Amino acid sequence: MTTFEAQGAATQTGLADQPEQTAAVSASLEEARQLRDAPPPFPFGWFAVALCHELRAGAVLTRQFMDREIVIYRTQSGTVCAAEAYCPHLGAHLGHGGEVCGEELRCPFHGFRFSVKGSCVYSPSGAPPPAARLGLLEVREIHGAIFVWHGPAGQVPWEIEPLAGDESDWRRVQHTVRHVHSHPQELVENSIDITHFGAVHGLWNAQLAEPPIFDGPQLRVDYTYTQSARWKSDADVTMRIRIDGLGVVVNEVDTRGVSMRVFSLATPVSERDTIQHLLVSVRKRGRSPVGKAFWGGVEKMSGRFILRGLVGQLKQDDPVWVNKKYLRRPAIAEGDGPIHAYRRWASQFYPEGAAW
Ligand code: FES
Ligand SMILES: [Fe+2]
Repeated sequence: MTTFEAQGAATQTGLADQPEQTAAVSASLEEARQLRDAPPPFPFGWFAVALCHELRAGAVLTRQFMDREIVIYRTQSGTVCAAEAYCPHLGAHLGHGGEVCGEELRCPFHGFRFSVKGSCVYSPSGAPPPAARLGLLEVREIHGAIFVWHGPAGQVPWEIEPLAGDESDWRRVQHTVRHVHSHPQELVENSIDITHFGAVHGLWNAQLAEPPIFDGPQLRVDYTYTQSARWKSDADVTMRIRIDGLGVVVNEVDTRGVSMRVFSLATPVSERDTIQHLLVSVRKRGRSPVGKAFWGGVEKMSGRFILRGLVGQLKQDDPVWVNKKYLRRPAIAEGDGPIHAYRRWASQFYPEGAAW
């Protein structure tokens, strides 16, 4: 029987629409899979767009942020502003020739000027049109970085918590920027996914020192683990992780008598692409001027090694991140860490009703 004959026979036996039904079933399965595996949308929260030292007074920088470009600039008196990249007058890109003039931003196309509040304060062609308002984003400087807010218009319901203690006790030693094919929610999840510590990074015996604390947009998790090194004995490590939303993770690490802070600041630039700012600080040692000078040199040098080790460790994640899918309903084992609780906590950073 040929294929056509078989189809004819199927019609006569009432099975004619079976192939269509099969196609419909697989389409809906495919749809369900797509839905289940779709990465979360851009989350609400604070996200780093630059390091403070990159933005000197008078500088204008362009940054990719959540599928669009924004500009950030610092006025002569030091105020930082973040704005949509395109001038509301006739659409010039303010990051290409836009200039800081005192406390204002001047558009390169016709010379309109905008205040730090976004209003047009000067137009060379008559009174500034009221509609010529620059779209501004809320901006903060903290942890050595510049953060912008993404969320429902007009609402900034929480702030990044400052770290305890005196900032001057810490020496900022190194920083770098990585491009990661992932979503901030997954990057943060990596910090609490203790099973992968051993499997991917060779960090053993990872266990929670305390139950995690979920407190509004803040999450605090404390771990201990053992780090093996080829050229040294194994080291016990304690790590306190402070998470503020999905864009700010501060790891406070104590090992071999050294205390350091590793800031991992994840900023989504597109649906599955994230820029990760990494900053390392070490606690200063030495009390006398000579001791301070000696330890200062050691700390600067060790920062380079710490960062290299850290980036090496993160690169171990890359083959998984580049190829993995986001599963909305993961099959979590008992000892996997508080992943379900984390996912419930993370759902607050999406529009109401969108559970991720
Ligand atoms: S486009 Fe900016 S001033 Fe005209
Ligand atoms: Fe990892």
